[in-house]
Amino acid sequence: TGYVTLDAGFVNTASCSSAITYIDGGNGILRYRGYPIEQLAQNSTFIEVSYLLIYGELPSASQLETFTEQIRRHTLLHEDLKRFFDGFPRNAHPMPVVSSAVNALSAYYQDSLDPSDPEQVELSTIRLLAKLPTIAAYAFKKSVGQPFLYPDNSMGLVENFLRMTFGLPAEPYDLDPEIAAALDMLLVLHADHEQNCSTSTVRLVGSSNANLFTSISGGINALWGPLHGGANQAVLEMLDEIHAAGGDTKDFMRRVKNKEDGVKLMGFGHRVYKNYDPRAAIVKQTADKILDKLAPDDELLGIAKGLEEVALNDDYFIERKLYPNVDFYTGLIYRAMGFPPRMFTVLFALGRLPGWIAHWREMHNDPATKIGRPRQIYTGHTARDYVDLSQRS
Ligand code: CMC
Repeated sequence: TGYVTLDAGFVNTASCSSAITYIDGGNGILRYRGYPIEQLAQNSTFIEVSYLLIYGELPSASQLETFTEQIRRHTLLHEDLKRFFDGFPRNAHPMPVVSSAVNALSAYYQDSLDPSDPEQVELSTIRLLAKLPTIAAYAFKKSVGQPFLYPDNSMGLVENFLRMTFGLPAEPYDLDPEIAAALDMLLVLHADHEQNCSTSTVRLVGSSNANLFTSISGGINALWGPLHGGANQAVLEMLDEIHAAGGDTKDFMRRVKNKEDGVKLMGFGHRVYKNYDPRAAIVKQTADKILDKLAPDDELLGIAKGLEEVALNDDYFIERKLYPNVDFYTGLIYRAMGFPPRMFTVLFALGRLPGWIAHWREMHNDPATKIGRPRQIYTGHTARDYVDLSQRS
């Protein structure tokens, strides 16, 4: 069976070759298809970045128009799929609702399941990009007991999502373009991050030739964990807890450093970045801007900045090269926009979707791809004989 090496957590093992995203963790560099994240965040849009990640190049004006139009045409959910949401308890976390609904797309759209048919892959790609915002908004509406709003295809993807989430049928939705632009930019920042836990999951599920919808559903589940995308919700809960206890960051930091009850500084640390996460730097600026406008009295931003300052000057964090990651400041922005903490990881999923799709497609187009099937180091019993039930103590 050959020589097997153990690399728990894949710290040093590459699972594939990829031309999508480049990270230099030591220098805090992130590029999609060669383009620096700072330039994309400032100049591009989520739709354009989705195109870039999936097809490899920035679109021409006509390519962008066609792509946008295709997505626009697929925003509706099958009427029966709408009823699917009624089966969940109202107090359910939206992540399992969203991942289940995405998995259910395999049942409702059976004409786009074949991974070996490029036209079907194209159709499932467009369907996912178009329908995930609708699914996410419906999961939110279900949780607050409000009616679902059909997509309005005269609006852009992010604007439509905001309207379906916060709008009501009884009154026109008053869209704030600055909020829409900020959310669009945050989705750009989340759009890909090479072989992270959820993307590796999407690749692994897809490597068995499972369809795109079901592979993405697997990725959404992996993302939910607090060590990954669930960290944005966990950060806000941590800040709330510190605030409720009187805002004492020193005592909290003491517990983190002593590893008391496994307490971590959520939103800090990263497997690859051993320097400031370039996404966190951009998010921090946005947090200043958005909170100044929407929630100038929010005391949690001050607590977050205080924690960061303490951490960046503390030996525990310096020695371990722990810096704020993308999740540290995002929750404060989402909350100021009106999202409850339970929706934060759903927003991460919306952003990461094009990255997952790009990786799934790259994997299928790579002749070197084989089914993902890691080996193990066996540590169990050596061979022993079966003992009859009457003979067992
Ligand atoms: N607070 C306190 N100590 C930490 C933290 C933290 N947030 N992160 C790492 N450490 C310590 C860890 O205990 C270990 O210490 P020691 O050497 O004494 O055992 C050392 O730093 C190395 O950490 P590690 O756990 O071996 O690092 P990893 O690469 O396996 O884990 C991580 C990376 C992101 C899971 C981890 O840093 C973490 O749990 N951070 C908090 C959760 C979080 O913010 N996750 C979001 C990640 S970025 C976006 C995303 O992927 O979704």
